Amino acid sequence: MSAKIIDGKAFAAHIREAVASEVKDIFNKTGKRPGLAVILVGNDPASEVYVKNKGIQAEAAGFLSETIRLDSNISQAELLSLIDQLNDRSDIHGILVQLPLPTHLDKDIVINAISPEKDVDGFHPLNVGKLWLGEDKFPIPCTPLGCSLILKEYVGSNLEGKIAVVIGASNIVGKPMGALLMKMRATVTICNSKTPNLPEVARQADILIVATGRAHLVKSDWIKPGAIVLDVGINRITDGDKSRLVGDVDFEAVKDKASAITPVPGGIGPMTIACLLRNTLDLMRWQEN
Ligand code: GUN
Repeated sequence: MSAKIIDGKAFAAHIREAVASEVKDIFNKTGKRPGLAVILVGNDPASEVYVKNKGIQAEAAGFLSETIRLDSNISQAELLSLIDQLNDRSDIHGILVQLPLPTHLDKDIVINAISPEKDVDGFHPLNVGKLWLGEDKFPIPCTPLGCSLILKEYVGSNLEGKIAVVIGASNIVGKPMGALLMKMRATVTICNSKTPNLPEVARQADILIVATGRAHLVKSDWIKPGAIVLDVGINRITDGDKSRLVGDVDFEAVKDKASAITPVPGGIGPMTIACLLRNTLDLMRWQEN
């Protein structure tokens, strides 16, 4: 069997078009547009690329987009004061501080400083609590949200009776993904790097979501035949004198065993930014109502 290759790029383009069209309608009616502020501290090369793409796509969808680049030596007090100013601005509806932060900054204090109403990443403890309680009308972390939209499209919104395994237990992907899968009524296991017999646990999964940052960790014999595999990893590897991006899943081997799989690049990655735009627009709506 050869898996369906899930086209995250096309799906994300569809979401961005829908958002852009809603933004146009709102602007025509009210003269207002969603505002997204993205803060980048320092010059981590991967973060630079992500932040640049976020700005380009926010502008393309008709948003007010502000990218604020700060020196890596900025003090915590200066960063918190900037976040306060953005919290107070009525033209900014979503605030994102790109992670990771330099080690002298305390990410928890920084995330806590963002108003929960403007926390477009859904990382503030209040929004994390709402996610685990299964509430409505709050921002959901963008990457897991993208994964859940793909699952809704390819499997359905009710995952009752399905075994879902998440490999990776980060605050950004693994943990919120587990909460969303539980909300969709799947039976959920969240694994970390010390999980015993990881291949055996993965083999139980009808839905396998991998977010470890370890290139080609997941092999073909980790996959239950017919499973759906979502690969969140983006790893740069060098093959001789060429470098390329690969996922956490050995795509070529796994695609003959799964029933559907996301490629890297072109799978989950584009969905993350599309969901960021969707979240910013939702935040604007909730703030204005
Ligand atoms: N770094 C990697 N992924 C993310 C994300 O989704 N949001 C933020 N703020 N930083 C990240």
